[in-house]
Amino acid sequence: MTQNIAVLAGDGIGPEIVNEAIKVLNVLKQEGLSIDLHEGLVGGAAYDETGSPLPEATLALAKQADAILLGAVGGYKWESLDISVRPEKGLLGLRSALNLFANLRPAILYPQLADASTLKPDVVAGLDLMIVRELTGGIYFGQPRGIRTLDDGEQQGFNTLIYRESEIERIGRVAFEIARKRGSRVCSVDKANVLECTELWRNVMTRIAADYPDVELTHMYVDNAAMQLVRAPKQFDVMVTTNMFGDILSDCASMLTGSIGMLPSASLDANRKGMYEPIHGSAPDIAGENKANPLATILSAAMMLRYTLGEADRADRIEQAVSRVLDQGLRTADIFSEGMTLVSTSEMGDAVVAAL
Ligand code: NAD
Ligand code: IPM
Ligand code: MN
Repeated sequence: MTQNIAVLAGDGIGPEIVNEAIKVLNVLKQEGLSIDLHEGLVGGAAYDETGSPLPEATLALAKQADAILLGAVGGYKWESLDISVRPEKGLLGLRSALNLFANLRPAILYPQLADASTLKPDVVAGLDLMIVRELTGGIYFGQPRGIRTLDDGEQQGFNTLIYRESEIERIGRVAFEIARKRGSRVCSVDKANVLECTELWRNVMTRIAADYPDVELTHMYVDNAAMQLVRAPKQFDVMVTTNMFGDILSDCASMLTGSIGMLPSASLDANRKGMYEPIHGSAPDIAGENKANPLATILSAAMMLRYTLGEADRADRIEQAVSRVLDQGLRTADIFSEGMTLVSTSEMGDAVVAAL
């Protein structure tokens, strides 16, 4: 049975990096992987064409697809638009409409990139961390929200950090299940010393931990977690946290692997339908220059094969091809170090294709 993949390249470097992932998927297709790719508009590109960052046609395409591959959205051009039609709303709308509550962000150091990290090699060598980020709730979606004018004429901005027990429980269970297949340790990150909402988060994590006696649960405040990620990141196996904390901690964790251009992600619903995207943004500062690192997007395509398409062997092969290219000393600018060969976005994609 042919599986349908919605390809939403988006803005900035989005089209450049997605193009490289498509090259890789096309090689697999030629050798028998049964997939069809269907392109759609999202983000600023969609706004410019249709007036909406998430047009009906794109939402329908995403709903019908078995999986979605996304580049990135956003850019200077759209920064002064009303927040309701900004490119980022397209991405948030997809996550919410498709119920993609479980965002998996693996931070793995390829040993070849130990020099590329800004941290000392012995701090990051062997790093293999999974951040499980809640993706459809919390302060990103909580009501009420907005900017209002008070009686004294001053403006006030407000957002709501809000979680139901069931939302906490389902993301917690995802983290425990993943931990079972790895190092059997979950660190739940919260701010339970200050925020009631995350006090509830901690209570729910503690309650469900009883169902996973083989997994060790610890709790950490988010400020300490940010510090520990830089001090001694290998102490972590699986981290589970709220939407906003996970956003911030995963960018931080990405630098442990050499670059934000290395971190893929999977955003899954309860049935493992998923959207796959690099964790970085549209990098408007380097867009159009054929300089961006496409590996996070190529590795996101590998996650798509593994988690949604049931093609674990092919996912392994993509990851091995990436490793081989790094063995060859090929580096985009963000992971470049002394003695390596500097390559462009498209040369990196071509090298992965050749290594496959
Ligand atoms: P960003 O992740 O786009 O860029 C941060 C820095 O990392 C920049 O210097 C950029 O050049 C670099 N970088 C990012 N990806 C890279 C890659 N693949 N290769 C090499 N270098 C890379 O974050 P930002 O600058 O804060 O945001 C830019 C825009 O992207 C904003 O509009 C933001 O809302 C949007 N954004 C979108 C997503 C997404 O679509 N998932 C994620 C984050 C930010
Ligand atoms: C990410 C991005 C998004 C987020 C933005 C663009 C809405 O930063 O995917 O990490 O905050 O979730
Ligand atoms: Mn982010």
